[in-house]
Amino acid sequence: MNKQVMIEVMNLSKSYKGVEVLKGINLQVEKGSIFALLGSNGAGKTTTIKILSTLLKQDGGEVKLAGFDVVKKPREVKKNIALTGQYTAVDEILTGRENLFMIGKLLGIENTKAKVEMLLKQFDLLDDADRRVSTYSGGMKRKIDIAMSLMGTPNIIFLDEPTTGLDPQSRKSMWKTIKQLSKTGVTIFLTTQYLEEADELADKIAILDKGVIIAKGTNDEIKNIIPSNIIELYFRTAEETEKANLLLNKYNAIIVENSNKLRIETHDSVNEVIDILNDLKAVNLEVENFEKKKASMEDVFLKVIGHDEERRGFRCKQ
Ligand SMILES: Nc1ncnc2c1ncn2[C@@H]1O[C@H](COP(=O)(O)OP(=O)(O)OP(=O)(O)O)[C@@H](O)[C@H]1O
Ligand SMILES: [Mg+2]
Repeated sequence: MNKQVMIEVMNLSKSYKGVEVLKGINLQVEKGSIFALLGSNGAGKTTTIKILSTLLKQDGGEVKLAGFDVVKKPREVKKNIALTGQYTAVDEILTGRENLFMIGKLLGIENTKAKVEMLLKQFDLLDDADRRVSTYSGGMKRKIDIAMSLMGTPNIIFLDEPTTGLDPQSRKSMWKTIKQLSKTGVTIFLTTQYLEEADELADKIAILDKGVIIAKGTNDEIKNIIPSNIIELYFRTAEETEKANLLLNKYNAIIVENSNKLRIETHDSVNEVIDILNDLKAVNLEVENFEKKKASMEDVFLKVIGHDEERRGFRCKQ
């Protein structure tokens, strides 16, 4: 049997002052899963989250949360969701425990005290619960923010870039928190700029680029699109770079914009690299320098976008 769909986005579009920032996106998120919307700055991630959480009205398309239309049934939608981020609700003068308690009272929930203690424990904040939030680290502030949004037992939680700006240790701790949260059955919709974060956390990933979903699927499906490694070859002149590009066409070589650099995806095979260098040597094309890189999100974008475009001579940003 198919799992229940908690978030359904159909042909969603949005413009700001005539500039289209979401261009007809389609998504489905299953109940209890973690979904990551992956994209770089300005891709449209926050805009999507704002529409899904009823803070912003779309121009076109339909969005349903827990079966309720965000435009027609905003009140029912709000009952199902929790939105975190920017710790807007967190009062810095109050302690962590007091903040949670205050939200519990505002929401009028029963057993506020027990719920507060449970969340403090779940988020590993018991030791710091009686300190003012103003003394918390960035990671702890985010945790208390998420804990506050969970006082109301939401079915769906939105996390807009939950780890951006956190140090590696706090990021790991936040990942753990999100995974634990997921085990409670809540559906999590998060945005991130980090491929490894989406990989670590999400059951399904969608890559958003300039308002368009350019790839979506499970981690493995997404990874299959991504080249395992990139090599870059530096040449002396633009002419030599062009020549090498033509010669290495079968490897889907790409010239890096405004440079004499050629980028090639490899699958970590030494023989492949040797073949490439031999091909160049055979026509006396001298490689000035050589660099091996891990694939970045930019490379993923290139790869996905490249499917629909003429690849030969296709250029990419530095
Ligand atoms: N209120 C607004 N008025 C005009 N343009 C806006 C507004 N909000 C966002 N935009 C534009 O819409 C595009 C998408 O913005 P959005 O904030 O959704 O991106 P994002 O993926 O969340 O980026 P970031 O990673 O920087 O948070 C950007 O080009 C942005 O400049
Ligand atoms: Mg954003």
